[in-house]
Amino acid sequence: MKLNRGCSGEHGHHHHHEALKFSNFFFMPERPRDYLVLFTRVSVLTCLIFSVSLVLRITFLSSSSASDYSSSYGLRFSAVPQKALALPPTRSLGPINISHVQFCIAGAAETWLDRSRYTSLWWRNTTRGFVWLDKPVKLPKNNSDNRFSIPVRVSDSGWTRFRFSSSRAAVRIARTIWDSYQLKLPDVRWFVMGDDDTIFFTDNLVKVLSKYDHEQMWYIGGNSESVEQDVMHAYDMAFGGGGFAISRPLAARLAGAMDGCLQRYFYFYGSDQRIAACVSEIGVPFTEERGFHQLDIRGDPFGFLAAHPLTPLVSLHHLGFLDSIFPNKNPIESLRTLTKPYNLDPHRILQQVNCHDRKRQWSISISWGYSIQIYSYFLSAKELEKPLQTFKTWRSLRNGPFTFNTRPLKPDPCQRPVTYFMDGAEDVRDSGTKTWYSVGDKNYGYCGKREHSRVTRVKRILVTSMKMAPEYWNKAPRRQCCEVMDGGGRRKEKEMSIRIRKCRSSETI
Ligand SMILES: *[C@@H]1O[C@H](CO)[C@@H](O)[C@H](O)[C@H]1NC(C)=O
Ligand SMILES: *[C@@H]1O[C@H](CO)[C@@H](O)[C@H](O)[C@H]1NC(C)=O
Ligand SMILES: *[C@@H]1O[C@H](CO)[C@@H](O)[C@H](O)[C@H]1NC(C)=O
Repeated sequence: MKLNRGCSGEHGHHHHHEALKFSNFFFMPERPRDYLVLFTRVSVLTCLIFSVSLVLRITFLSSSSASDYSSSYGLRFSAVPQKALALPPTRSLGPINISHVQFCIAGAAETWLDRSRYTSLWWRNTTRGFVWLDKPVKLPKNNSDNRFSIPVRVSDSGWTRFRFSSSRAAVRIARTIWDSYQLKLPDVRWFVMGDDDTIFFTDNLVKVLSKYDHEQMWYIGGNSESVEQDVMHAYDMAFGGGGFAISRPLAARLAGAMDGCLQRYFYFYGSDQRIAACVSEIGVPFTEERGFHQLDIRGDPFGFLAAHPLTPLVSLHHLGFLDSIFPNKNPIESLRTLTKPYNLDPHRILQQVNCHDRKRQWSISISWGYSIQIYSYFLSAKELEKPLQTFKTWRSLRNGPFTFNTRPLKPDPCQRPVTYFMDGAEDVRDSGTKTWYSVGDKNYGYCGKREHSRVTRVKRILVTSMKMAPEYWNKAPRRQCCEVMDGGGRRKEKEMSIRIRKCRSSETI
């Protein structure tokens, strides 16, 4: 290390022999040239003191605990060479399944009992991993409730020695990647981080991860929906609440580098930001997958969930902070309701299909397993695939901007959709499904126009479809089509039947 950088100026060695004699070092200058000599000597001494103090400081820092160092942003180079943890080959061959994922859920003792209601909605006996808490928590014994069978661990106490500027928990949570990797569980291909209120749709998570080679370094997730959040934190970063995936070789590097990163990035706000910074030091970019949802929005998520991008739904988050996704149900009941169609045809959940009832001139949009919107006028596919803005930004509660386009909820009730919500789902043999949707009041106001009243007379809609083919998401994505079936009989006005099918190659909507 060049500690004397900047000290060996032109004048530095010119008077070197004189500098050895201290009595000669500071003499009273008599001629103008002597002033120059004195100036040079003072500079040399200053440099020397600075260098020595820098050496002492670095030595001191690398050997003492991190909590008592007083530098602010001064120390930006890693003081200790990073130890790479040994990386034995996985020898994990064959197609990926859920058991190749080690979940790493960030929890806290104080809130786990409540938050486990969310985790238990998706945790299965095939999922592996842990909820990491700050301290042990006493859980009731109850065999009929799987909330208490989710494995819980307490984070290694090493995290307490690191500095932080806003949230102490962020340090601990960032370090759970180290905690998780240390366990060296066999046959783990991916580490998936999430919050205790993140809902994972594990079949779709596996589907998305199957596109990537787990023997290479990948960092996959989603960013925030609110632009203000991405500006404040970062765009090229996986937001922790939406969950993100780290392949095993990257997890190994991160585990080795994490303590150094925690020292260097103590001034960051979140744990996800610390991990993003550490990943970027390794040189691995962020890979965005649009099915991970941090859900940094406020209010009613309906418009967003009714127009999901054409990609598998991987996660949802923040549902305790939003209006319930199903009317007249609490967040947990809503998620249970969504789980029903999800279990029947996981890869299709929330997939959007649009069609027009050409006879009645209606525009129809289905978010499979969740909701249907009907407009009594023509809306193009481009409009229908744009989320109806029923929500605000996360931080400032504004009307945007978001990281996607939205269309406003028009003040005129006649321009608003009539909305239906899924209330029944069943298998049709093994290859298909039926889902039912009943009209649900969104308080969108009264419209007296005849065409709108005709829509509101429809109370229940039946949607039939084949299950999504296993290779559907491995191909170039194309939205499916739907058609309104001609109903008959007396219930014709009150009921509607729609069939979802593959679009014909030349078909447009
Ligand atoms: C996942 O695949 C492994 C083989 O790599 C197999 O041993 C395991 O039983 C599978 N787990 C599930 C849940 O299918
Ligand atoms: C896991 O759960 C499924 C049903 O959810 C059950 O059929 C299976 O026997 C369980 N496996 C184990 C090992 O408990
Ligand atoms: C166990 O859990 C079930 C389901 O959540 C609940 O109905 C029951 O009251 C619980 N029993 C005890 C003893 O807590």
